[in-house]
Amino acid sequence: MRSCRDVSSPSLPPGPKAPRALQTARWIARPAAMMEDSQRRFGDMFTLKIANEGTWVFTSDPEAVKQVFTGDPRLLHAGEANIVLLPVLGSHSVLLLDDAAHMAQRKLMLPSFHGERMRGYEATMTEVAVREIERWPAGEPLSAWPTMQSITLEVIMRTVFGVTETARVERLGHSLQEALAWTTEPARMAQLAVLGPRRIAERGTLRAVLDPTDELIYEEIRARHDAPDLEERDDVLSLLLQARHDDGSPMSDEELRDELMTLLVAGHETSATALAWALEALTRHPAALARLRDEVDAGEDAYLDATVKEVLRLRPVIALVLRRLVEPMEIGGRLLPAGVNIAPSIYLTHRRPDLYENPRAFRPERFLEKPPGTYTWFPFGGGVRRCIGASFAQFEMKVVLRELVARLDMRAARPRPERRVRRAIVFAPERGGEIVVERRARQRSSDRVAA
Ligand code: HEM
Repeated sequence: MRSCRDVSSPSLPPGPKAPRALQTARWIARPAAMMEDSQRRFGDMFTLKIANEGTWVFTSDPEAVKQVFTGDPRLLHAGEANIVLLPVLGSHSVLLLDDAAHMAQRKLMLPSFHGERMRGYEATMTEVAVREIERWPAGEPLSAWPTMQSITLEVIMRTVFGVTETARVERLGHSLQEALAWTTEPARMAQLAVLGPRRIAERGTLRAVLDPTDELIYEEIRARHDAPDLEERDDVLSLLLQARHDDGSPMSDEELRDELMTLLVAGHETSATALAWALEALTRHPAALARLRDEVDAGEDAYLDATVKEVLRLRPVIALVLRRLVEPMEIGGRLLPAGVNIAPSIYLTHRRPDLYENPRAFRPERFLEKPPGTYTWFPFGGGVRRCIGASFAQFEMKVVLRELVARLDMRAARPRPERRVRRAIVFAPERGGEIVVERRARQRSSDRVAA
């Protein structure tokens, strides 16, 4: 799909002619439709102009995506593009750093999220999921999303923060929820746009919400320093406390706080939303749901894994990733100017008919037939910025879905599929995955896990 163009002087691919303000309004209201229309009109690479965010060059060409993910990270900055999160995450956050400082933090964090380690979290994930879904009333419509939020929040508090005592889980959970809710209110977003992240970070109103949460987090960090069983513990905070920078120094308490907050913000709403989409999709595809239930009952994992991958393909919770070009760079056969953001579109790439047969169909089988490709399936981004929690999130989705289908019969509450709406940075189902559940008489897969 690529064509060769002039690569001697920097230029932008074509895009809508509407003024920046109009383009921004449309992007905020209907991002998916805007990406699809632009692709139809201008091809695989097009330019959108978004207020405050500069110029975005979208691509859905796997070759160009590969160039972005394998390109020199010193020239492709992701941290800069996330600066709006500074007030909440803090200046040490791996999400906000670039270059050597980014790699240093990432290297400290990656071992804690290694795929194999996730098994150790299975019992906790199962226990939390079962407790929450057992509360669901049978026979009446309910929105799955709030429950999924509670599950993913508690799982992070227990497995990442390592907080297990019920009273502390509740206190910290309540405080974190308040802080997150406050920071994602639309009014705050507007304030951010006007004042900019650095000035917001200093403001009293933000501090009033974040300080009590920070105090609880620092309390946990201080207590963990002295924990006699630190070396035996498997929660992420305990592992980070034992990690060492290249010069042998430990992470400071501020670094630990910023990374814990980053893991919470990056991992909680994304995973909850992906689970809500899974229920939205499965309840509209009874054959897929029936096969999943049969395979889960039989103790099989392959279809469950394929279902998670298909949900993340067709309903990616994050639509694109961003890299800011530090220098002019040739991508997709065109020399792009410095300063623009190159945006591999997860949403568009995942829907290409030349990559996926019948791309709009929900068909987990496709991933049994062929594993996903690095540059054709990237719900977790790629390269040196690829989501640190990708294994964690997929493992958690599988554990929660397994419990859901083992314990409940589920159907969609209404026939019409749910539209995609934007919640802060994620694409979410408009009614949060509205379903009706009935309890199944038999098969408790967590009993199997416990056994
Ligand atoms: C379904 C759930 C999730 C999705 C769809 C998702 C998606 C993403 C995406 C698209 C990125 C940006 C990658 C890039 O720029 O190339 C990212 C980064 C990140 N994610 Fe996730 N994520 C999920 C869950 C999690 C979880 C559970 C955690 C941790 C507990 C986590 C931690 C992070 C971190 C720390 C980064 C920054 C990596 C860096 O800049 O080096 N995410 N995620």
